[in-house]
Amino acid sequence: MEIVEIPEDRLDVAAFIEEKTGQVARRAGDGLAVNALSGGVDSAVVTMLGHKALGRRLKTYFIENGLMREGEPQGVGRIFADLGVPVEIVDAKRQFFAALKGLTDPEQKRQAITQTFYKDVFGKLVKDSGATCLLQGTNYTDVEETVAGVKRQHNILAQLGIDTQKAFGYEVIEPIIQLRKPAVRVVAKALGLPKEIYARPPFPGPALCARVIGEVTPPRVGLVRAATKIVEEELANSGAFQYLAILHEDKVTGVRDGKRDYGYQIEVRCWDSTDAVTGSPTELPFEVLQKLAARITTEVPGVVSVTYSVTRKPPSTIEAV
Ligand code: XMP
Repeated sequence: MEIVEIPEDRLDVAAFIEEKTGQVARRAGDGLAVNALSGGVDSAVVTMLGHKALGRRLKTYFIENGLMREGEPQGVGRIFADLGVPVEIVDAKRQFFAALKGLTDPEQKRQAITQTFYKDVFGKLVKDSGATCLLQGTNYTDVEETVAGVKRQHNILAQLGIDTQKAFGYEVIEPIIQLRKPAVRVVAKALGLPKEIYARPPFPGPALCARVIGEVTPPRVGLVRAATKIVEEELANSGAFQYLAILHEDKVTGVRDGKRDYGYQIEVRCWDSTDAVTGSPTELPFEVLQKLAARITTEVPGVVSVTYSVTRKPPSTIEAV
C-alpha cells in the first residue's frame, strides 16, 4: 500500500490525534499492545497516542541495548513516569553486543540490530505478554530513505517485503508513518509532551551503533558515548538540527607528554537541516570547535585527534553508518 505524506501545512493536529487514537484502539481490539519507546520524538508521540487509546492495556518498553547515551534509559523513564505512563526498562545489552560481534559492514550491523530488536527482544516480550501487536514510531523519512536505497532504517519492515506476522509473530502498527519530523513535533506539542521531548534533536534507531565505524564493542561504544556527551553539552545552544560524535576505525599517531600516543580519532558533525533529507554543516565559531577538541582529547581516554566535517548531505549522510 502506498504511503501518502501529510505535510505539516496540511496537518489538522486535533483530527490527526483523534483518528490515530481510534485506529490504535480498533487494531488492538480488547487485547494488549506492546510499545517500543526510545525517547525520541517519534516514539514519544506513538507512546502518547497508544496511552490515550489503550491506557493500561499498553505495555511500554524501553530497550537498553547498550548503545544509548549516558543516563538515557533512566532519564526517559522519569519523563514518562511524570506523564503517568509506566515504562519498563529491559536490559538487552548482552543480546545486542552478541549480535554485533565481529561485524564491520554498515548494512550488516543495521541488519543485526533489526533482527535482535524485533525477533529476539520484542518477539519474546510480545509473546510473554499475550499481545498481538507492536506500536512503533516509523516516520515518512525513514520509509523514503530505505525505499530509495540510501540506507536501511532499522525500523523499516513491510516496505522491505518483511511480513512481521510471519517473521516475528505479531503485527506492527505505525501511527505516524505519514509524517515527517517537523509535523511529528507539532503533534508532540499538542499531546502535552514537554519541550525536552518535542524539541529533542533526532537520534537514530540503531543509536550509537550508527556512530561507530568498524566493530561495535562495549569499550568502543563507551568512547563515542563520552564524546557524544561533550558534543551535546557544548552544542546544545547552537540552534543546529542535529550534532554528533563519530568514532573512526583507524588510529593515528599523536603526541602526549612528549611521547608517541597512537590513539583514536573522533569526528564531530553538526547539521543545519529541516527534515534530515538534505543538510549542511553548521558554521560553528572556531572557538567552539577548539573547545570541543580540547575537551574531547582530555576527557575521553585515548583520543588524539578531533575533526569537524564540513561536508553537505548529499553526498554525506547525517550519521556515519
Ligand atoms: P542519515 O544518516 O540517513 O540520517 O542521513 C537521516 C536521519 O535519520 C536518523 N537515522 C535513523 N533514524 N533509524 C532511525 O530511526 C535509523 O536506522 C536511522 N539512521 C539514521 C539520523 O539520525 C538523521 O536524523
